[in-house]
Amino acid sequence: MHLLVTGGAGFIGSNFIKYILEETDWQVTNLDKLTYAGNLENLADIQDNTHYKFVRGDIADNQAVNNLFSGNKFTAVVNFAAESHVDRSIQDASPFINANIAGTQVLLDASLKYKIDRFLQVSTDEVYGSLEDDGFFTEDTTLAPNSPYSASKASADLLCRAYYKTHGLPVLITRCSNNFGPYQFPEKLIPLVVSNAIEDKPIPVYGSGINIRDWIYVLDHCAGIKCVLERGVPGEVYNIGGDTQIHNIELIKMILSVVNKSDSLITYVKDRPGHDHRYAIDPQKIKSQLGWNLQYNFKSALIKTVKWYIDNQDWWNKVKSGEYINYYQKWYGIIK
Ligand SMILES: NC(=O)c1ccc[n+]([C@@H]2O[C@H](COP(=O)([O-])OP(=O)(O)OC[C@H]3O[C@@H](n4cnc5c(N)ncnc54)[C@H](O)[C@@H]3O)[C@@H](O)[C@H]2O)c1
Repeated sequence: MHLLVTGGAGFIGSNFIKYILEETDWQVTNLDKLTYAGNLENLADIQDNTHYKFVRGDIADNQAVNNLFSGNKFTAVVNFAAESHVDRSIQDASPFINANIAGTQVLLDASLKYKIDRFLQVSTDEVYGSLEDDGFFTEDTTLAPNSPYSASKASADLLCRAYYKTHGLPVLITRCSNNFGPYQFPEKLIPLVVSNAIEDKPIPVYGSGINIRDWIYVLDHCAGIKCVLERGVPGEVYNIGGDTQIHNIELIKMILSVVNKSDSLITYVKDRPGHDHRYAIDPQKIKSQLGWNLQYNFKSALIKTVKWYIDNQDWWNKVKSGEYINYYQKWYGIIK
């Protein structure tokens, strides 16, 4: 098996590549543009692994992608590469349209041309929109994205479906809930809370913090992707979720208690426009049809993750500089 992983220098992609190299003898090529969110330090411990190769490039660059496919015999593609932060998509949607939609189309065309055996699109539960206080997203829930980010991911999902229906490309789609774990860019909730708490900076909380997310440890997501890649039925969608729904404010308080900091750091800010109230995944299909199950307990994985950020301050100190500071200041306006 020679896997092309795109976006492998980001949070989930880097965890996935390391997971695959540990679990299999597959060859992995990582194609990543190294945007602000891509960081080769995430992969420093495997850079000399003979089963692994890094290629810098843009999935939306047709020529570069075709050159890569023609020079390699890829068996399967796992597409993580994306602009992934909702707040940034509210500021400017165009990079999302380019990477998430046009980039996916370029990869689909190359996969068709070079007769790839499996194309797995890593999607998100955010394509389903928002839930009220009860119910779950199933694979049959209507797509109703509310942010430019989730609309771009939903568009990519529809393109994937169309390439399966029209061209017979063996496409699989996974839609996962919110991930947490090491190497997540510190603009995202959990690393943002830990790093701000360590630095005694205010912790911005949208609205009153009552939004609910369904959290999953990143390695459970990675195992789900591998499971769908190996055993999923082409043309099908598989939801992956952590069975752990928590109000944002409750999660933030849990983190503050692990870091041993006071709740007084919490600073309520104006709510995000179009902020989804609640996500909750029903993962019965992947469990019953493919035999996937959660391996990690939420609380202990959360504590382990918070400790990772405490022990790896060098990693996020470097990341939390330059372009990120400008973005953060502009968006929240409360940096110290
Ligand atoms: N983080 C979550 O909770 C979550 C949940 C469900 C699904 N997802 C999906 O998983 C994927 C990965 O998410 P993440 O949180 O690791 O994101 P991330 O922002 O940490 O990483 C994205 C990676 O993609 C790369 N990239 C961006 N545009 C590119 C392009 N045009 N060409 C090549 N590389 C490009 C970046 O350099 C970066 O390395 C995304 O598709 C996202 O929609 C994320």
